[in-house]
Amino acid sequence: MDIRVKITQAETQKTACMVLAIHEKRQLSPSAKLVDAICGQRISALVKKGDFDGKLGQTQLLDNPKGISAERILLIGCGTAKNLSLKSFRKIHGHILNALKKANIKDAVIYSSELAIKDADNAEKIRHASEALLEASYSFDELKSKPSKTAALKTITLDFQNKRDSAKAKLALSTATAIAAGMDIARRLGNLPGNICTPSYLAKQAIQQSKSCKKTKVTVLSEADMKKLKMGSLLSVSEGSRQPAKLIVIEYKGAKAKDKPYVLVGKGVTFDTGGISLKPGSAMDEMKFDMCGAAGVIGTMAAVSQLKLAINVVAIVPSVENMPDGAATRPGDIVTSMSGQTIEILNTDAEGRLILCDALTYAEKFNPKTVIDTATLTGACVIALGSHCSAVLSNNDKLAQDILKAGTSSGDRTWQMPLWEEYQEQLKSNFADMANIGGRSAGTITAACFLARFTKKYKWAHIDIAGVAWHSGAKKGATGRPVPLLTQYLMNQK
Ligand code: BES
Ligand code: MN
Ligand code: ZN
Repeated sequence: MDIRVKITQAETQKTACMVLAIHEKRQLSPSAKLVDAICGQRISALVKKGDFDGKLGQTQLLDNPKGISAERILLIGCGTAKNLSLKSFRKIHGHILNALKKANIKDAVIYSSELAIKDADNAEKIRHASEALLEASYSFDELKSKPSKTAALKTITLDFQNKRDSAKAKLALSTATAIAAGMDIARRLGNLPGNICTPSYLAKQAIQQSKSCKKTKVTVLSEADMKKLKMGSLLSVSEGSRQPAKLIVIEYKGAKAKDKPYVLVGKGVTFDTGGISLKPGSAMDEMKFDMCGAAGVIGTMAAVSQLKLAINVVAIVPSVENMPDGAATRPGDIVTSMSGQTIEILNTDAEGRLILCDALTYAEKFNPKTVIDTATLTGACVIALGSHCSAVLSNNDKLAQDILKAGTSSGDRTWQMPLWEEYQEQLKSNFADMANIGGRSAGTITAACFLARFTKKYKWAHIDIAGVAWHSGAKKGATGRPVPLLTQYLMNQK
């Protein structure tokens, strides 16, 4: 599906469908008013009758409108005008796309950039409208035996009356397109099941992707390579799996070779059974999403390259499958990490931190400007924050602030949790330098405290995406988060 931005004339604009906004309490948007006057008050008559009250997300199709060149009108309810936020604006565009898809419409012109939203300029409206439309147009059916019928919807035009801002609006559209493309990649990898999306598959996909991404190079480290580097912690996680572990490194060079890179690290557990500390059976299938951190950084690298950002970025993806078998790690086993620190593995289900710690030590070799890791790390994060935001914990306040800010403006929100020394005590072990779990309380914080012991040499932040990386229930599927957050953070540098 293609999105365009164009200054249009509502009455003469040819299209299969014109989308007009109606606010609650029968309030017509400027374009709706204009069209209403031309087509014999058809819209206001409907609204007056009470058939359409403008509730957020309500839609209604009108056929054969008189006096205008559009073949149909789609009314979209936008809720109360003064409550319109970027978030509800995005929701509205999701509803528009679903209605257009359902009606098999092949092209549409949307008159929504004229709506007033506090805290958003004209270009931001274009950015969020297009991102939401592209997000809603995603589908995953490559594993269904019969190909689903191809979507009729080919082009959407966003009306944009502001000539002065039109260059900015075009830029906003290309930003949205790049982020949506990155999210598509992340969602696809997330949705693929564990029997297809293995560590080797992820590595192949990264290599494949780099062929079409400019200035990007991929290196894949094998288990033998990792043994040489003494990554005893990472390697211990896949002992019980027939799938070999991989460490995938994607390097993007958009600046001078000697410029310090921003490093992203993504947890790539392609399936998490819990290992010998086996998880309960219910909803265990959702642990195929335990590589959404990896998918998020791989998708972000695609967006970064498409946006041609003038910075250097390195993505490091430690990827394993966490399985129980005769060779699997036992609770109580002690391993030595690449940093030399020893770890008593009291629970084999706390495996994310075990692969991340060695990847974070490996990150030192890039002399990073900042390091951000992202992971579906703790169930405790879902308990604490639910599914509206991810958790951010950092050893550097400026970095934490930059991430929070990127979260707000991209709509991919985060909330900070403390990383105080006091919590470190929970990781004490009688037999090794540390244990890999810290008890029931503050699970998201103690997981980050564990990682903090491996990130002392640089500015680092950890983003726990356990609550936001996928939807459960009827809408089960990967969300593409945190691609918008990470891409926005990187766009804001320089
Ligand atoms: N991948 C899980 C975390 C998770 C669970 C994310 C459910 C989203 C939904 C992680 O590897 C894990 O199992 N963590 C344990 C840690 C515990 C053993 C300290 C958890 O959260 O229960
Ligand atoms: Mn686990
Ligand atoms: Zn896990």
